[in-house]
Amino acid sequence: STLGASAAEQGGRYFGTAVAASRLNDSTYTTILNREFNQVTAENEMKIDALQPQQGQFSYGNADRIVQHARSRGMQVRGHTLAWHSQQPGWMQNMSGSTLRNAMLNHVTTVATRFRGQIAWWDVVNEAFADGGSGARRDSNLQRTGNDWIEAAFRAARQADPNASLCYNDYNIDNWNDAKTQAVYRMVQDFKSRGVPIDCVGLQSHFTGGSNYPSNYRTTLSSFAALGVDVHITELDIRNAPSEAYRNVVNDCLAVARCKGITVWGIRDSDSWRSNESPLLFDGSGNKKAAYNAVLTAL
Ligand code: XIL
Repeated sequence: STLGASAAEQGGRYFGTAVAASRLNDSTYTTILNREFNQVTAENEMKIDALQPQQGQFSYGNADRIVQHARSRGMQVRGHTLAWHSQQPGWMQNMSGSTLRNAMLNHVTTVATRFRGQIAWWDVVNEAFADGGSGARRDSNLQRTGNDWIEAAFRAARQADPNASLCYNDYNIDNWNDAKTQAVYRMVQDFKSRGVPIDCVGLQSHFTGGSNYPSNYRTTLSSFAALGVDVHITELDIRNAPSEAYRNVVNDCLAVARCKGITVWGIRDSDSWRSNESPLLFDGSGNKKAAYNAVLTAL
């Protein structure tokens, strides 16, 4: 079997990967992609700097290449990401106040409308909370437009593409006891209570192994789910790809009904943004690693 087919048999879940448009003419890469995965996320091609390099000028070529490759093969697409402090185009980086707020909302509306009907889940907002013990929002140009910027982005996305599931996505929200996890939890709870349109939480899950993979990860997944949102493991990679950690992540997702699927952040170790840590399921030659077998067995 394959990762995608096995995940589909587990309550219709998906097993996906981040994809780079520049690799779609590498046949080793596309052979594995087309065989193993039934979901994709563009690694960089749907970020703000890629889609709107100049204000008001949108550039969809690479994003369309990925979306078409995926959809023509029945793979679902996660849109990543509409609003983020990072990978903003230069023109946006130094904006502030209502000018920035309007530019952000225009980006959300334009992009979500452009891809309407093609995107199963949007990461509407990415990485808006601070690390450490404060539980505060991350300081950023977007945050400085007002604390309501996140809900404004979600409302605009819902209006633009009413059928897409709308997610909040972040890293270091894996350990249930961390202040950052609790802060995101309270935001989702607040959004649900006030009717702000949010459907899912994405846990990036860039793990370094050891205690960075928390034993209470399953508690975190089920606690978010209990708020009435789906949960997704959106960018999984683990330093040195230990089989046990990968197996635990799969088992934790399968234990939570609202955990809809797992996306690994690249195919081969050589494709990874952390390539020196060999954190993925296929080696640089495209061979299945031990962690691959652990994941497939657990699925
Ligand atoms: C990373 C990409 O993998 C790199 O190619 C790029 O240089 C930087 O961004 N959190 C996210 C992803 O939400 O978009 C990031 O992807 C990794 C961390």
